[in-house]
Amino acid sequence: MTQTPIKTTKGRTFTNLVSKEGGVKYPLEALNVCEETFSPLEVAYDYDEIRRQVSRESIAAGPNSIWRYKAFLPVESDNPIDVGTGMTPLVKSNRLARRLGLKNLYIKNDAVNMPTLSFKDRVVSVALTRARELGFSTVSCASTGNLANSTAAIAAHAGMDCCVFIPADLEAGKVMGTLIYNPTVMAVKGNYDQVNRLCSEVGNSYGWGFVNINLRPYYSEGSKTLGYEVAEQLGWELPDHIVAPLASGSLFTKIYKGFNEFVKVGLVDDKPVRFSGAQAEGCSPIAQAFKEGRDFVTPVKPNTIAKSIAIGNPADGFYALEVARKTNGNIESVTDAEIIEGMKLLAETEGIFTETAGGTTIAVLKKLVEAGKINPDEKTVVYITGNGLKTQEAVQGYIGEPLTIDPKLESFEHALERSRTLERLDWQQASV
Ligand SMILES: Cc1ncc(COP(=O)(O)O)c(C=O)c1O
Repeated sequence: MTQTPIKTTKGRTFTNLVSKEGGVKYPLEALNVCEETFSPLEVAYDYDEIRRQVSRESIAAGPNSIWRYKAFLPVESDNPIDVGTGMTPLVKSNRLARRLGLKNLYIKNDAVNMPTLSFKDRVVSVALTRARELGFSTVSCASTGNLANSTAAIAAHAGMDCCVFIPADLEAGKVMGTLIYNPTVMAVKGNYDQVNRLCSEVGNSYGWGFVNINLRPYYSEGSKTLGYEVAEQLGWELPDHIVAPLASGSLFTKIYKGFNEFVKVGLVDDKPVRFSGAQAEGCSPIAQAFKEGRDFVTPVKPNTIAKSIAIGNPADGFYALEVARKTNGNIESVTDAEIIEGMKLLAETEGIFTETAGGTTIAVLKKLVEAGKINPDEKTVVYITGNGLKTQEAVQGYIGEPLTIDPKLESFEHALERSRTLERLDWQQASV
């Protein structure tokens, strides 16, 4: 199952794994939990070495992908797997901002990330590069959909064997968006948390590289690039407030780590950044803990259309709560109806078709603004992490239909007149 590991290159910037609690050190292997403290393991870096290696100029002259930040990522190879992941647009919002009453809103659009249209391409590019370095030839994951898409696609590109595990009830677009790369797909009759538990058992006995289990310390570091890119795209400056979706909570905590690392090595000035998180009401264990002032997360059974963020027992929930609280942010949840409205609002105002996770984030952004929890002047970045073409079921029946006409001018004119009359009636009814 394993290949010969690739050996160390000089100037390596990452030094060891370390437990988040107690600081117990571990070697740079495929490990994810501390045997003494049972806390997750993280990658530790030599920041003096990073400071020596990078400058704003050297980063800007790097590849147009996440690998321009290679010094901050836990890979040694001079040839990381680069499928053009990252450097997605940071869009200054005009129409959505005006609709919400915000003056300084930006949208980080990972709905167009490469190759599979979600932020997961970032974490998987890092995880599979590291998997190759550690000698794994078979890679795997427990996924809510997007991760399976990314793992299958990038494994295909890298010529690695791939077996992914998903809940059996995922959206058709997510399943097809995995099968096309021809991995082995296990559709498990259960929810994500059951899939994850099964994968932990498989991982122990098959010697595979599970990107979000035994390779999790490396994989999760890929999300830091969502922090670096925003800072660079804002002109080497941090925003005042970010809003991002929460499933396991990893993405949220890694954006925080990314901003702090840029401050630590002197690439940006330090300033307070508020971190606000978004969950679907049908799976909101972190939002519930936040609202109730708890520092522990009570697992829930997911029941929401936002399947990609439906993790009932979030691995990094505790740390996400910590980040939101210490930065004076919030964690909110919204109903499925609000998620659909959020998807429509972003599409109609900005021309961005996001999936349910993005609908959740936009709906939470709106809710926080209405509650006075986001100041209109704050430079706010909202993270759109996935593409709506993969979750078309969610909006079916909630959007308009095409006007079917004959291939004749009069048929077109008749249909146009009818639709304008209907629009006028709608408008009159709305203003009564
Ligand atoms: C589109 C999308 N956004 C956000 C997330 C949340 O990621 P995390 O588990 O790092 O919180 C996921 C997780 O699968 C996702 O698919």
